[in-house]
Amino acid sequence: MPKVQPLRLGVNVDHVATLRNARGGHHPDPMRAALTVIEAGADGITAHLREDRRHIRDDDMARLKAEISKPLNFEMAATEEMVRIALATRPHAVCLVPERRLEVTTEGGLDVVGQSKALEPYIGALGDAGIRVSLFIAADPAQIEMAAKLRAPVIEIHTGAWCDAVTAGEASRAETEWRRIVDGAKLAQSAGLEVHGGHGLDYETAEKIASLPQIVELNIGYFMVGEALFVGLAETVRAMRSAMDRGRATLAGRA
Ligand code: PXP
Repeated sequence: MPKVQPLRLGVNVDHVATLRNARGGHHPDPMRAALTVIEAGADGITAHLREDRRHIRDDDMARLKAEISKPLNFEMAATEEMVRIALATRPHAVCLVPERRLEVTTEGGLDVVGQSKALEPYIGALGDAGIRVSLFIAADPAQIEMAAKLRAPVIEIHTGAWCDAVTAGEASRAETEWRRIVDGAKLAQSAGLEVHGGHGLDYETAEKIASLPQIVELNIGYFMVGEALFVGLAETVRAMRSAMDRGRATLAGRA
């Protein structure tokens, strides 16, 4: 039996910046949040430089890259401007996401099938610069196969629809979405892709998805920043890590 790979926790600090920007000053600082979660055991930091700069700003990204000791995952839209900034910043990874100005958050996966021609040169340029490229996509077989064809090394499966169904208590929709993720993760791994997951995860859903051996990284933000208001960021990281460990531990019996 192959050895089960560890599951990394990437913490998304966007919404610390959302809070800071509400007053236009320097507090709370996403950089301080990044250092705090790393100290508490996070494996990396994720931040999304949106085209409208509604939370993370260019200087946040530069500071994160310069000052954190763990990998930086730079989320961005697939545009000329963002690729230029990423190439100048040189993060460990870039996660290409769809972006529409009016959406509240990243609502759906990237359409890599429909946009393959536009994405190919960006994936190539970022990869040539030594940046690990991840495509944020729905667990849809056609999208997964195209991600492999475009030679992106990593996909991040959009877990939002599943998490929404779980939160809404819609058991049948949750089960359908879960099966999609399970099958998608298997297909992606068999196509040679590294598989991550993210969007909308909380303790319960992170524990469950940690039981999928194909998934080696979770990127989690909104729930953790909200939870930190009550128990603090460090405690939230420790609790999330425990939930993920509980999920991963179920694999020991299966190996
Ligand atoms: N992964 C990706 C690609 C995202 O776009 C987001 C949201 O910015 C996340 C993970 C984190 O999602 P959430 O904030 O809902 O945990």
